[in-house]
Amino acid sequence: MAFKNRENFGRIGAVLAAAGSAVGLGNIWRFPIETGRNGGAAFVLVYIVCVIVLGLPVMISEFMIGRSTQSNTAAAYRKLSPGTQWKWVGRLGVLTGFLIFSYYSVVAGWTVEYAGYALTNVFARESDYKQMFSDFASNPFWPVLWLFVFMFITHVIIVRGVKSGIEKVSKILMPTLFLLIMMLVFCAITLPGSGPGIDFIVRPDFSKINGMVVLSAMGQAFFSLSIGMGCLCTYASYFRPDTNLTRSAVNVASIDTMIAIMSGFIIFPAAASAGYMLTADDVGPSLIFITLPHVFQQAFSGAPILAYVFSVMFYLLLILAALTSTISMHEVITAYLKEEFEMSRKKAARIVTCSCAFLGIFCALSFGVLSGFKLMDMTIFDWFDFVSSTILLPFGGMLISIFTGWYLNKRLMYDELTNYGTVRVRYFKVLVFILRFVAPVAIGFIFFNELGFFDVFS
Ligand code: PFF
Repeated sequence: MAFKNRENFGRIGAVLAAAGSAVGLGNIWRFPIETGRNGGAAFVLVYIVCVIVLGLPVMISEFMIGRSTQSNTAAAYRKLSPGTQWKWVGRLGVLTGFLIFSYYSVVAGWTVEYAGYALTNVFARESDYKQMFSDFASNPFWPVLWLFVFMFITHVIIVRGVKSGIEKVSKILMPTLFLLIMMLVFCAITLPGSGPGIDFIVRPDFSKINGMVVLSAMGQAFFSLSIGMGCLCTYASYFRPDTNLTRSAVNVASIDTMIAIMSGFIIFPAAASAGYMLTADDVGPSLIFITLPHVFQQAFSGAPILAYVFSVMFYLLLILAALTSTISMHEVITAYLKEEFEMSRKKAARIVTCSCAFLGIFCALSFGVLSGFKLMDMTIFDWFDFVSSTILLPFGGMLISIFTGWYLNKRLMYDELTNYGTVRVRYFKVLVFILRFVAPVAIGFIFFNELGFFDVFS
């Protein structure tokens, strides 16, 4: 039974909202880093295979679970498996969302500060970008303020509800984001000397593919597609009965992959044109907050106005991408509190925002006053990132595929996929096979790899 007074996304709204969740800092920041680290075009090819073979089946699973139950992620598993422990998969998703929202918003907040730098042309005046970043990140005030601002904007959208909040904003932000990224790609690939950067992502060197590259591609695919914490399950609970789940999943995965590859087409050509080869030191926040401001100034050194416009557009792009993702994380927890504890959307959202803002403060300060506060050489921010993205997301993804592959009633799955016989589905057996055997084993590999069990591959 569905919860009362539930809203629904329209057909396009459903795809844009889910794509908004998927497209985020993971695409524009993490994907190019992983591509750079793992040998360029060969990694991109492996990544695409991972999205198709593993990402899509798990995404379709989350869609089926959400739409069939019309519930928040915790209630969804409970309804599909009454009296069993599977309910913990949903609850785990809510916990993961809670942790990710808290630390992801810190980086999202930094993008606001950097958009401000770009707007006021600070990059043209500064030269020591490393110092500038460390001064800002370690400041006890500004990162916390921007964290609050970002969470507050997310909060306002969530309070407005599914249709006039999430859907409406996604319909404005996603096309804007697309336009911005197209303009940035055009500028980057037409820069003089951008050739080697383009080659890097279009000419695969298959000798670069090894076990480590495959595992990194799988891990990146899961993070980027927002799989494993009930985000897509929650959004699918707002899908209409006639939404074609497979087509929506293919659309979301294609948009997400396209945006990730396009980010590569911005960063590598711009870096090549600036005579800059990205190295392992450019990983982490330093890529977008230290290396890129430098790259943009160098690449457009002959036309400072272009450097200005390019930087403004790039940081605006980051803000939009991060915002559509934080909205989805917030919604997972808000829907859970609202429905499980029967409170208003407003009150649920307030609890989520306040508690995550509280946790976020510690994450933000861990680059400054709390930087000495370490456990096993990791700061508070590192712990949030590690526990949620490295452990809980793949673990959640593995449980979801086992749940749908082995436990969930196949008739119910078939009915959901075919919209009760109105859509043709020819791949059902393949899907079940992947969910039963391929996905759990492969995700198990990502999981243990990320915990450092397979260092032999490197
Ligand atoms: N997919 C988002 C990104 O690429 O930045 C991050 C994310 C959002 C992960 C929502 C998990 C999630 F549930």
